[in-house]
Amino acid sequence: MMSLPANFSVEDFRVTLVGAGALGSALATALHAKGYRFVSVINRTAADAQQLALSLGAPHYSDQLLDMPHETNLLLLAVNDGAIESVAEKISELRLGFKTLVAIHFSGALSTDALKSLGAKGAITIAMHPFQTFTRQAHARLERPDLFKCYFGLQAPEIEGIEIGKKIAHDLGSKVMVVPKDAKTLYHIAGVMTSNYLVTLTSLAAEVFAGLGLQPKEAFKVFEPIMLGTLDNMRHADDARESLSGPIERGDARTIQKHLNELSEQLPHIVPVYVALAIETVRVAIHKGSISQSEAADILDLLEDFARRETNA
Ligand SMILES: NC(=O)c1ccc[n+]([C@@H]2O[C@H](COP(=O)([O-])OP(=O)(O)OC[C@H]3O[C@@H](n4cnc5c(N)ncnc54)[C@H](OP(=O)(O)O)[C@@H]3O)[C@@H](O)[C@H]2O)c1
Repeated sequence: MMSLPANFSVEDFRVTLVGAGALGSALATALHAKGYRFVSVINRTAADAQQLALSLGAPHYSDQLLDMPHETNLLLLAVNDGAIESVAEKISELRLGFKTLVAIHFSGALSTDALKSLGAKGAITIAMHPFQTFTRQAHARLERPDLFKCYFGLQAPEIEGIEIGKKIAHDLGSKVMVVPKDAKTLYHIAGVMTSNYLVTLTSLAAEVFAGLGLQPKEAFKVFEPIMLGTLDNMRHADDARESLSGPIERGDARTIQKHLNELSEQLPHIVPVYVALAIETVRVAIHKGSISQSEAADILDLLEDFARRETNA
């Protein structure tokens, strides 16, 4: 088992980042700003490794895992989920000081099992997933100082891993939510719903606005205030469901009927998702107490009729 000084600090770490993509570059930039010392950046595309190494003041970069500096004692594996296990296996075959190595991956869906080859060699393994979204757009890394004001879903088989994960998260100004290994999939589903599906919904709304002649960028300018307003309402509510407004919240079945007629004529591929979300929104409105059981039943009947007709059409 690795022994870290009781009050270990950033100066104790010699960091190698593997994977200079969306998350890796943002995370390394933020850790570097907090004083973490990077000794190497390794990436499949060498030019990306070189560029990031330069900005981190790291003396070394490569496109080969074999080149990993021996002094590495904090390994950040920010490669795609599908590559984590095989990259960890390849690293476990190198000559490194595994008994003093901390190895971290950032996948929301995978546990530290993906790092078991390194754990078997004596490394402390950690899975810590930022509940945040990262893209390769430069602004995501450079213009968002609050990027890491988020939670990390933290899982580690040993208490040392939990302690180190907390320390790194706190250094970034982040909070920690300890996630049991067998709850990681559930945890990740919520992340996909709150971020990815928001993008998908917004892109569907932009398709609807294309019917009014707006380009996606113009459409987003119109959407942004209502989206931010909705977020703000949810922020101030005890339960997000209290923030519902709109036709279903008012029990207005006729408006829903008009939406469905229009969509099935103009954008039929959106009907199934509209119906599915409308059904769930009825549940939200019932929970909020803004519609009666009979108003809910009217809307649900309408939605089911419509869905049945579409399936048979
Ligand atoms: N993006 C997010 O919002 C987000 C949020 C939370 C957690 N995460 C997690 O962060 C991790 C990275 O995701 P990402 O979105 O940053 O992906 P990404 O932008 O595609 O970056 C992955 C990086 O890994 C490199 N890579 C892949 N296989 C490699 C290998 N065998 N050796 C060396 N480098 C390799 C890729 O290099 P090339 O570009 O040269 O192929 C790329 O630079 C994943 O575990 C993901 O679940 C991402």
